[in-house]
Amino acid sequence: MPAFEPVLLARVNKPNSAALEGYRADGGYETLKKALGMSPAEVTDLVKNSGLRGRGGAGFPTGLKWTFLPKDHPGPVYLCINADESEPGTFNNRILMEYDPHQLIEGIAIACYAIKSNRAYLYLRYEYGKSYRVLEKAIQECYAAGILGDNVLGQGFQLDIVLHRGAGAYICGEETGLIESLEGKRAWPRIKPPFPAIEGLFRKPTIVNNVETLCCVTHIVNRGIEWFKSIGIPPESGNPRDAGSYGPKLYTVAGHVNNPGCFELPMGVTARELIDVHAGGVWKGRKAKAVVPGGISMGFFSADELDTPLDFAGPGKRGCLGLGTAAVVVVDDQTSMVDVLYNCCRFFSHESCGQCTPCREGTAWMTKILERIRAGHGRLEDLDLLMEVASSMGIIPGTTICGLSDGAAWPVKNALTKFRPEFEEYIKSGRKSVDPVHYAH
Ligand code: NAI
Ligand code: SF4
Repeated sequence: MPAFEPVLLARVNKPNSAALEGYRADGGYETLKKALGMSPAEVTDLVKNSGLRGRGGAGFPTGLKWTFLPKDHPGPVYLCINADESEPGTFNNRILMEYDPHQLIEGIAIACYAIKSNRAYLYLRYEYGKSYRVLEKAIQECYAAGILGDNVLGQGFQLDIVLHRGAGAYICGEETGLIESLEGKRAWPRIKPPFPAIEGLFRKPTIVNNVETLCCVTHIVNRGIEWFKSIGIPPESGNPRDAGSYGPKLYTVAGHVNNPGCFELPMGVTARELIDVHAGGVWKGRKAKAVVPGGISMGFFSADELDTPLDFAGPGKRGCLGLGTAAVVVVDDQTSMVDVLYNCCRFFSHESCGQCTPCREGTAWMTKILERIRAGHGRLEDLDLLMEVASSMGIIPGTTICGLSDGAAWPVKNALTKFRPEFEEYIKSGRKSVDPVHYAH
């Protein structure tokens, strides 16, 4: 099979890849010019018909989301770019922002034109200092060159981009938490509906899109629907709930591999190919025990599930929550799943905003139970208790405001279903974890 030619990462290894001059020399902002020659509805239709699904984790159809904006709204309408990349193991947006910021800015400008927005807010993860500096410079270059401002490329379209540094919490990446934070408040997610497309930033219609999604928009407008749909995989026949997984995708691979990194591949690559071919295999000659398919909130593959395609349907068929952020984290066979799960639970307990009882209490109690197990005081019935707590935490019955609670419960359910004998053996042996835990019995 011929090697896949990168599109989104095509420029990242070029010298000075973040500079406007080089971007323009490679044809940059010609696609924006093309889009400005179309009507906003034509651009929206193009994106809708391409089958592009959001790359931030949920896989919601991007063009369809744009059509949810009220038709007769007097405005303003806003675009928020969710660059608060906080899902553990995920760094694809960071690569795009640090090495090819103009690709993103072009996507933002095309999206704003399509949704008739004159103001975009780029909400950037606080910890991404380099991204901030690179984006700040790139935005300034665009204003100086007439790509942003009152008369974009001399075509009469007005656009401002506001770069906003995040508040350093995972929940700021939840879209309504992000909106609250942008408004200067604590990032407490709002109850949906209304979805932001109806009532978002400053209570105005707002589209929230991820960085990688907007980068894809530029290439769809440039190369067309057929090109985009020629990459990836179509919907499963006879499955009306599968909308297909088209286009190039950035997968990040981290954890116990020889060559961690960010790899651009067609949607549907298997976890095994990613790990063995692109990430250089599991380190130290070991084998994978578990693999996170798309950020820790998605759950785990066991070793015999690695031939699963990483598309919007694949991980879900293996009992995981979904493809998520396509952040693959490899756990080798010398690592304790009790420790891995404890780390996941501790993270979510720390990041829960505390508004909803099942999430606030559930994440804290799951962490405490795992602390007890790791301190050598675990009981076998603790495993059923963990499962019971996790099962009470989902957004689906409507007990929580946002998806963090589901995302915290899923790794627990998956680990206890797929690796239960290891948990039982750990408890029966009275083993204690090596690193200190603050457990007072
Ligand atoms: P969601 O499925 O609730 O919504 C997805 C998008 O579609 C949102 O923008 C929402 O406003 C829109 N939408 C859905 N139904 C709609 C309707 N009827 N009308 C108008 N708009 C509608 O998912 P959510 O909670 O936004 O995202 C969850 C995902 O975020 C998780 O799967 C996780 O993978 C991912 N995530 C990503 C992180 C990162 O660092 N990139 C961090 C944490 C979570
Ligand atoms: Fe906050 Fe958790 Fe409720 Fe989300 S589910 S709003 S993080 S308490």
